[in-house]
Amino acid sequence: MKFAAWFDSLSLREQCSFLTGADAWHTTPSIRVGIPSLHVSDGPTGLRTPGKGLGGDAAEAVCFPTASAMASSWDTDALKTMGETLGRECRARRISVLLGPGANIKRSPLCGRNFEYYSEDPLVSGEMAAAEIIGVQSQNVGTSLKHFACNSTETARMKADSIVDDRALREIYLKPFEIAVEKAKPWTVMASYNKINGKYSTENSWLLQDVLRGDWNYDGAVISDWGAVNDRAAALKAGLDLDMPGTGNYTAQTLLKAYRNDKITLEDIQTSTSRIFELIHKAEENQYETPPQLDLDADHNLAAHLAEGCPVLLKNDHHLLPVNPKTERIAVIGARAKEPLYQGGGSSGVNAHHVVSPYECLKKECAYLSYTQGYDLDNPDTVSDVLLKNAKDAAKAADKVLVFISCSKRDITEGLDRESMKLPAAMNALVDAVTSVSMNVAVILTTGSAVELPWADKPAAILQTYLLGEGVGEAVSNILLGHVSPSGKLTETYPLKEEDVPAHQYLQPDENYNVLYKESIFVGYRYYEKNRKEVRYPFGYGLSYSEFAYNNLTLDKEEITPDDSLNISFTITNKGSIPAAEVPQVYVGYHDLEESYIYRPVKELVAFAKVYLDAGETKTATLTLDHTAFEYYSSNHQDWQIEPGQYDIYIGSASDDIRLAGHVQMKNNGFGDYDYRARTPDYFDGRVDAVDDAEFDFVLGYHLEDYVSDSKKVTRDSCLADVKDTERGQKCVSILEKSLRKQKDPVTKEVLYQGLLYTPLNRFTMATHGAISEDMIDALAFWLDGGDLPDALKLCALGLPEGTMNAILPLAQKLAWIVPPALVPDKVKKLGKKKKK
Ligand code: BGC
Repeated sequence: MKFAAWFDSLSLREQCSFLTGADAWHTTPSIRVGIPSLHVSDGPTGLRTPGKGLGGDAAEAVCFPTASAMASSWDTDALKTMGETLGRECRARRISVLLGPGANIKRSPLCGRNFEYYSEDPLVSGEMAAAEIIGVQSQNVGTSLKHFACNSTETARMKADSIVDDRALREIYLKPFEIAVEKAKPWTVMASYNKINGKYSTENSWLLQDVLRGDWNYDGAVISDWGAVNDRAAALKAGLDLDMPGTGNYTAQTLLKAYRNDKITLEDIQTSTSRIFELIHKAEENQYETPPQLDLDADHNLAAHLAEGCPVLLKNDHHLLPVNPKTERIAVIGARAKEPLYQGGGSSGVNAHHVVSPYECLKKECAYLSYTQGYDLDNPDTVSDVLLKNAKDAAKAADKVLVFISCSKRDITEGLDRESMKLPAAMNALVDAVTSVSMNVAVILTTGSAVELPWADKPAAILQTYLLGEGVGEAVSNILLGHVSPSGKLTETYPLKEEDVPAHQYLQPDENYNVLYKESIFVGYRYYEKNRKEVRYPFGYGLSYSEFAYNNLTLDKEEITPDDSLNISFTITNKGSIPAAEVPQVYVGYHDLEESYIYRPVKELVAFAKVYLDAGETKTATLTLDHTAFEYYSSNHQDWQIEPGQYDIYIGSASDDIRLAGHVQMKNNGFGDYDYRARTPDYFDGRVDAVDDAEFDFVLGYHLEDYVSDSKKVTRDSCLADVKDTERGQKCVSILEKSLRKQKDPVTKEVLYQGLLYTPLNRFTMATHGAISEDMIDALAFWLDGGDLPDALKLCALGLPEGTMNAILPLAQKLAWIVPPALVPDKVKKLGKKKKK
């Protein structure tokens, strides 16, 4: 047995202790046996290395562009370079595992965490995640691919149950993870908070064993998202190795109890412990090296350089951009020019080393530059006539106007979804006002995801920057001034309005916390194209200061079988007089959609590249397609299948801008599948809002109605939101509200409030290291359900472990507010009193 010496020296209790953290950011060590502790840190766009506990001020680190920005570069080399640098920073800070990247699909623009994710498309998400992981791990620093899986909404994220059919799971939601796992072998995978088809990810053996370890041969460790475990023994059985943050002695005690009760075996424990030992072993080398010198200034320059590849030029009528800094009078309007939004809120937040604003950089180079505030950043929803008038005056006096606007901070945070796709009122009003007096307006827009742009026809130019990290100033000004040609392209569609988002009525959890993925595979452009729905900006779209010609398409075969690969080559020429980069995209579509047995999008992205070209230069792009470009997941066979027939191959500069096309004939004598046409007519037409329960049940493979329980009984899996309208529930909620009274920042307050409101009660047991015991949770649920207090107290037979109590008391006290005072055991009360003295 590998690690036999370690196992031989450790009692079973000690072996179990490795299956939880030592605290929020370290794995458990054994000083006696000489097993070191690993330091883990968020991630993924810079290091967040807080001190003790979950919060605390993080050490200064370089803030790189967020995932949504980096993905818009479509440049896997850039992601790899960023990963290498992050890996080096980790080594310098003795961090062994960086908690990221996030590969969840942007199912809807409303997910508050979209800024941390790459794309609505699984190939883009998977390739970007793989590149970043390869980069980080090249430094012998691990990663944690997250949030596995179907965590595409933040609302009630601890309770939400993603109801998804197998095909959508495999083709859309699991695909990015599959690509990243197979290509990059992340040291760890992080199981998400939510449920998938009824089972929490952390306790979902189908997800963790059958798919991850079985189908994808993953041999690394699975860790929980912070606080995502309910039932520790069930999680172990399902394949979850490490629960985080650490739970003191609780995990070991619980696992030992489960072992004695035959709920888990010695093999279960030791398999997981071995995976943690393997992780520790992998990182050991770096633990003892002399850490590389940290050069934050050099990394800042790299962050700014990488940021230049990200912004997407959405519009540039009469070549308004770039501006000429020497001859043109430029008006900069909008407080965001001086206080840029460069990252989102939550666990990915970095204490940035050196943020440079676009205004600072523009000022250095522009001979005639004015600045006007445009709106009040503290009240972005309030339109100020005075500020608008000043903005108009400034615009009138300038040759060109640069209007900087953004979404609100609340729209880009972990823990909350956006309330709408709209920009703050004052930002929209500013664009309307300035464009009413000038034809030469460029809007510089910063958001974490797609927004409604009702005024898009008015300004001559629009540049979407996304959240560019601390080098935002250099990157944006270099593009505006023409030092660099923009080369980003959208990795998500911009619909005209929120209601156009597929299955927009099913985006949030319903009253049973079910999130119905009724649109199945029709996510993003797969839906808009199928429905010929007009969009504001399509997937893959983005302009350059140059233009590109595509020529000479060759496919090396006319006919293939599933075992063949298809080589595609074509030339791209930079027709302009400046160096520029283009992102050719290869899409595949089944030619005869009416004849296909299965419903399909019109076309799907199967390959892409980023090609850098000097002025006038021509390069040949060569891309190879294998079976994965042609297959779909058959729920019927529970496996990937390839339907024979003609497949069209499209080479595009965007999904709606196809420059070259060819086709190939697929032969597959072994094909046989259910003909889905009769049973799923709405999916065949892509009319996902017409899909009724029977059709959805059919693709799900089970009856949703049987699955939904009518019982409103309060259980351990209930949360305070379930009982907030009852008298007793209200008591608990008001204690919660009181406990947050001192929190000044309104966004943080809302994140904490929503988070606690939707946390299943039983998670408080692990969060308090067992101080709020399972018995107490049962008692609480019983009492909240209307049970008598004396009976509840009887249920609350507590045997708190003496040793651990003192250590975890502060945490227990903080969280004990959810338990009505009468249910708090004397032991906790007494200790609390002692502490106060
Ligand atoms: C987030 C993770 C993060 C973890 C640790 C969780 O709330 O969902 O993305 O890595 O906290 O900070």
